[in-house]
Amino acid sequence: MNHRTQVGIVGAGPAGLMLSHLLHLAGIESVLLEARSRQYVEERVRAGLLEQGTVNLLIETGVGERLKRLGLTHHGIELRFGGRGHRIDLSGLTGGSTVTIYAQHEVIKDLIAARLAAGGQIIFEAGDVGVHDFDRPTPKIRYRIDGNMNELSCDFIAGCDGFHGVCRPTIPAGVLTMYDRIYPFAWLGILAEARPSSAELIYAYHDRGFALHSMRSPEITRLYIQCAPDEDLAQWPDERIWEELQLRLAAGKDWKLNRGAVIQKGITEMRSFVVEPMQSGTLFLAGDAAHIVPPTGAKGLNLAVADVRVLARALTDYYSNGNRELLSSYSETCLRRVWKVQRFSWWMTSMLHRFADDNPFDQRRQLAELDYVTTSRAASQTLAENYVGLPME
Ligand code: APR
Ligand code: PHB
Repeated sequence: MNHRTQVGIVGAGPAGLMLSHLLHLAGIESVLLEARSRQYVEERVRAGLLEQGTVNLLIETGVGERLKRLGLTHHGIELRFGGRGHRIDLSGLTGGSTVTIYAQHEVIKDLIAARLAAGGQIIFEAGDVGVHDFDRPTPKIRYRIDGNMNELSCDFIAGCDGFHGVCRPTIPAGVLTMYDRIYPFAWLGILAEARPSSAELIYAYHDRGFALHSMRSPEITRLYIQCAPDEDLAQWPDERIWEELQLRLAAGKDWKLNRGAVIQKGITEMRSFVVEPMQSGTLFLAGDAAHIVPPTGAKGLNLAVADVRVLARALTDYYSNGNRELLSSYSETCLRRVWKVQRFSWWMTSMLHRFADDNPFDQRRQLAELDYVTTSRAASQTLAENYVGLPME
């Protein structure tokens, strides 16, 4: 089959789905190609913290119904170190902004439902997806369905296919510059049928390594511990994970972590990565295809949404007014935010984790930084304004 659309989108993660939704609202047609099944993308467990701007956008564009009902609004977070908790008053420090706990795969479900209800085309389980001719005004996406190759012609391609996708690697050598850092640790995360042990998120710095207490609902807790990058999950029976979490999260001898059945367990690798520029000809990269942040601060999804907001605005200006300026400045506009978010995620990560080669000086310096961040209004305000999300340009 040969078919045509205005914008061909590769990848049905938050970036691809949100882009297709925003384009639809602007009267622009798109077709979305996804390698996995609908069930797979709707159940894939990822982070679950939305910035204020992401929440506002979902609500304003009509996909915030379940989010308003099920999302948990948070006005503050806690930093725990030296066996004590220190609250950062996010709302008080940012003029009322909050963050919302709502799992990424719930956002995915809401966006897929909205696209399909509006007659949007999402082609799941597309095999051998390849992007072609993006050095010309008539790019093409080829893909296999039920054993047959198909060709989608379009005006633009949006590469929203994540870090391991095909779009970025297809761009010829020499066009892109990559910047990256791999951290000497990872996170071991669990989802447990246990009531959260605290109403707010807890980021803990501990001699034994970082730990994070988060949640998904009043009945489900999400917890993480710093581990080795090549950690073997088989060495971590549930009991050992609970004991380690209890040790790292403890504040005072009476603090007790609620336990429950572990319903999911996984390792998240940690890296910082940026590609420049985020565009080549008529191919635009957005989200994880263009950049990765370590999960400390949960910026991945929010940054993906910020990119496609810029891209949707640029495409709308092009289709409504024939104006290419915003398309030309897409990469530059996104990268300003990307690098600030990279800085923040790197900073949170560096402040809260134990490094294999750290010495007593480094530990004292980290503790001094935490002490400063939790006692200086200027420093806690810096954390808060980045955590709830920098304003959109
Ligand atoms: N063809 C089609 N689809 C592909 C291909 C391919 N060759 N390769 C990958 N995909 C799909 C993946 O299956 C996935 O559904 O692209 C989608 C990319 O989605 P994400 O990885 O979620 O990336 P993005 O939309 O940029 O969202 C970033 O997701 O990974 C988290 O932590 C990350 O929160 C961040 C957010
Ligand atoms: C999560 O709930 O999965 C989460 C929350 C905050 C983070 C990272 C992950 O910084």
